[in-house]
Amino acid sequence: MRIADSVIVVTGAGSGIGAGLARRFVAEGAAAVEMVDRRIGPARQIAAELGPAAHASAVDVSDEQAVAGLVARVLARHGRIDLFCSNAGLTTGVALESGSQADKAWERAWSVHVLAHVYAARAVVPAMIKAGGGYLLNTASAAGLLTSPGDAPYAVTKHAAVAFAEWLAVEYAAHNIKVSVLCPMGVDTPLLMEPLAQGNEGAKAVAASGPIIGVAEVADAVMRAVTSESFLVLPHPEVGSFWAAKAADVDGWLSGMSRMYQRSRGSD
Ligand SMILES: NC(=O)c1ccc[n+]([C@@H]2O[C@H](COP(=O)([O-])OP(=O)(O)OC[C@H]3O[C@@H](n4cnc5c(N)ncnc54)[C@H](O)[C@@H]3O)[C@@H](O)[C@H]2O)c1
Repeated sequence: MRIADSVIVVTGAGSGIGAGLARRFVAEGAAAVEMVDRRIGPARQIAAELGPAAHASAVDVSDEQAVAGLVARVLARHGRIDLFCSNAGLTTGVALESGSQADKAWERAWSVHVLAHVYAARAVVPAMIKAGGGYLLNTASAAGLLTSPGDAPYAVTKHAAVAFAEWLAVEYAAHNIKVSVLCPMGVDTPLLMEPLAQGNEGAKAVAASGPIIGVAEVADAVMRAVTSESFLVLPHPEVGSFWAAKAADVDGWLSGMSRMYQRSRGSD
């Protein structure tokens, strides 16, 4: 697809990767970029910097009615949505602990990483079919192909996000709906850098797995994938080799991951 002249929605656009994507889409000549975030302040500020093509909306993507309302508003204003980027996300740092706080973290991860993608697709796919096609870009993570030491809800729900994107791609190919799934490793955003600064073990393992790249590099990879309509977006190309190595020898890959995690925790 062409980004120029497109109408685009980006969730989680008040920070990090979502903000980087919104900036890049405006720079590439998008007709309109709807910047969605639960926290409206930063999204509004960036939209104001980006000029009239950008607009900010306060939406909690885990609220189905709010997502449906967002899609209806953008369709009413612009007549179409060419690209919907479901990108909002969070980390939990939860392992096997029990109790209501841990259960809530599992529910939050499921709502934001999986159900939010479902709610967006439910709301926007019928309009895309009517328009003769469209594009969904869902942000998962390398954790959705590999794993995420120190954060079980993150690893599990990001796998589900990849699975849902695959399902969408198969189910709606005949309607000319293209799907990409974005699977970076470490990216320099608050989601990774804040826990890393606090010495979080999972964040340390991400940092030990490969380079921490900037959001502009992620936007470059997204531009390449969306313009060539490729499903898998790997801003860290080595994730493709790790994934292939996992498929070829799961036991070897599990031992390697666990050695790497122990080393990053300083216990090897
Ligand atoms: N930073 C990384 O290393 C990394 C690596 C792989 C994947 N990712 C994924 O990239 C995506 C973007 O993360 P980021 O690194 O830019 O993080 P970030 O914390 O900088 O930005 C995430 C944004 O999502 C918003 N958000 C969270 N829950 C929301 C909700 N319910 N409704 C609306 N907005 C909500 C937050 O307010 C925040 O502005 C996430 O899905 C994350 O899992 C990040």
